[in-house]
Order: sequence, then C-alpha cells, then structure tokens
Amino acid sequence: MIGVAMIGSGAIALANHIPGFALCPDTKVVALCDSNPATLEKASGQTGISVTSTDYREILKRDDVNAVVIATPNFLHAPITLAAVAAGKHVMVEKPIAMNLPEALQMVRAADAAGVRHMTAFTYRFVPAMRYMSHLVHIGAIGQPYHFRASRFQDWNDRNLGWRQVKKLAGSGEMGDMLSHRIDYGHLLIGDIRSLVADFRRFLDVRQGNSASDLDDWVSIIAQFESRTDGRPVSGVLESTKLATGRGEGHRGLDLCEVNGSEGSIAYTTQKPLELQIGKRNGPDLQSVPVPPEFWVHPGSPRDPKKGDPLATFRYDQDFEFIDAIRNERACSPSLLDGAKAQAVMDSALLSEAERRWVDVPRVE
Ligand SMILES: NC(=O)c1ccc[n+]([C@@H]2O[C@H](COP(=O)([O-])OP(=O)(O)OC[C@H]3O[C@@H](n4cnc5c(N)ncnc54)[C@H](O)[C@@H]3O)[C@@H](O)[C@H]2O)c1
Repeated sequence: MIGVAMIGSGAIALANHIPGFALCPDTKVVALCDSNPATLEKASGQTGISVTSTDYREILKRDDVNAVVIATPNFLHAPITLAAVAAGKHVMVEKPIAMNLPEALQMVRAADAAGVRHMTAFTYRFVPAMRYMSHLVHIGAIGQPYHFRASRFQDWNDRNLGWRQVKKLAGSGEMGDMLSHRIDYGHLLIGDIRSLVADFRRFLDVRQGNSASDLDDWVSIIAQFESRTDGRPVSGVLESTKLATGRGEGHRGLDLCEVNGSEGSIAYTTQKPLELQIGKRNGPDLQSVPVPPEFWVHPGSPRDPKKGDPLATFRYDQDFEFIDAIRNERACSPSLLDGAKAQAVMDSALLSEAERRWVDVPRVE
C-alpha cells in the first residue's frame, strides 16, 4: 500500500488529486494538511479522511505517508519539497514548481540525492489529444516542425485572484498560472526553448475587494527552440491572458496549441480532449481526426475512459503516473526537471522584460 498525503487541501487537491489517487491500485490518501483550519475541515468532511494537520512537518513525520502532493501557493513549493524529500517522501509538486530557477534546481538536486521519485503536475500533458499530438509530431507525421504556437485566452475580468495576484506568494501572474503549461507543451512537442523575448502587462492594479495586484494579467513570449538539423530553430509564439473579455473562463475560453511542419499541421485544444485538427500538405485543409482509443488513457492506467466527463477525467492519470513510477522505481514523466526547464524559460522571460531584449535560456540538465 502506498500512503499519500495532500499538503495544501484547496481547490486542485480536491478536484484533481483525491479522485486521481482513488483510481490507483493499492494506494490511499491517508492524511490531509492545510494551514487554514476551515479548508482542512471542509476537505476532511468532503473526503472522509480523518487524519489532518495544519502543520506539514507533522505530516512528514508519519510512517504511513510514503508520498506527498504539494498543492499550496507557489512560494511554499520549494521549502515543503525540500523538507519532504529530506524525510524520504516521494513528491508531486504543482506547477509552477518554484519561485525561480535556483530554487527549482535545488529541488531537483535534493530529490535526486534523496533517491525519491519526483514529479511536476503538468496536468495537460495527460490530455489524450496532447499525448496523440506528441506521438504524431515525434514520428514525423507532419515532417519537420517550423512553428509552435500556444494561446490561452480567458475572461476572469477583475475577479479577486487571492494569492495568485501577489508577487511574493505566486512569483509571476498569468505566466506561472497558465502559460507554464504551454511552455511545457513546447518542450514536450518540439524540444527545449533556447532563447526568447517576452512582454508582460498588468491592466488591473486593483481587483475585486479593493485588493492590489502586482502581477501580470497578460504575457507573451516569442521563442526559438533548439535548432533543427539544418541549423534553423523552430519558432514559437505563446500568449496567455485573463482579460480576453467575453471569451469565458476555463473550458469556455480559447486554449489552442498548434504545430506547423513541412508535411502538415496539427491543432489541439483541451476543450476537445478526444480530437485533433490535422491538415496535410497537398491534402485537404484542417479536418477533425478522432484520437485513437489506445491514446484515451495513459499507458497502464486502470481508468475507464468511458466513465465520467472526458474534460476532467484525464487529470487523474497524472496521479497514476506518480504512483506507477514509485512502484516501479523509475523516473516520473514529467519530473521536477521538466518543471525546472519551464522555470528556466519563465526566469528568462522576466529578465527579457526587465531588460527589454532577447535572452538565452540557461540549459537545465
Ligand atoms: N496542474 C494544474 O492544472 C493546476 C490547476 C490549478 C492550480 N494548480 C496549482 O496548484 C497549487 C494550488 O492551487 P489551488 O488552486 O488549489 O489553490 P488554493 O488556494 O485553492 O489551495 C491552496 C491551499 O494551500 C493552503 N496553504 C497555504 N499555506 C499552507 C501551508 N503552509 N501548509 C499547508 N497548506 C497551506 C491554503 O490554505 C489553500 O487551501 C498552485 O501552485 C497552483 O498553481 C495547478
């Protein structure tokens, strides 16, 4: 039996991870931690998990806890990860994994040195359509990639974002919150981003409840990926905003990722998790192509793809990947190293914006 604890028992712990671990064989969420007693009580009532603590150090002392999910505000990811791996616990860390690259690298090195499994919760890698897209790009189905593009446009208007709008708690705004997943798409589909120029904007200094925001609500990156074999880098354009007024929130907003290659193009949207748009050179323009059933669940996952809402259920596969890696003593995919690679891009974007210039992204290995 693998015992798991949630550290941070807020929205994402309850929505993604508790149902995800419930599907994993010989796995049990044995404890919940949240610094807010009211959140803890609500989570305990909702899940029936009675072992609770407001102090993560108490949770890390427990012998029945083999692994933890760190789903707190971003500024706590690094200190809690370091404490967890020092206690010999396997760690899944929510994105963005850290406040900056040095912190992220410290987490990777400490987890490796402790010999524990480590994972970044890049949830959208587990969307069947993204897994199929990655397969197609990597087998050369659209030839040599020219362009990578990702757009995440939502309407959150002036909603109070809580810790997400405070730099010392979140690190960055829309970039860490939404664009981090899209940076990871680029790394997954194309390879490492090598250089970039970025722009950020905050249009709302004050959000609902008269609360100050000191972070970006719009971000854009133009990127160059690792060189192609002929020496020309693949181009990348990434843009994300919470202020696409009238576009809607969550699944109602735009969430597009596209790769154009020498032989064709593939367009993906999270809203259609079982479908891609594919166009081929000299063939018909973009057409809907269903994702083949063998891609509907992550390999080995016991999840029944016909059960539940496909817009939600793919998320549970990330918890299976974590548990399966622990059980088979192999690296998780995506690991904390993938989280650190995204962090290197985000740090470079902040530097680019501060100095108004192109920046080389540090290599993370
Ligand atoms: N992978 C995804 O798709 C995805 C989606 C949403 C959020 N996230 C990430 O998950 C993390 C949590 O986001 P959320 O939406 O659940 O936020 P949330 O505010 O709903 O939950 C965070 C919880 O952490 C608790 N907390 C704060 N300090 C703590 C401490 N010292 N010890 C224990 N608990 C503490 C808070 O009380 C809160 O309940 C963030 O890093 C966010 O970026 C990832």
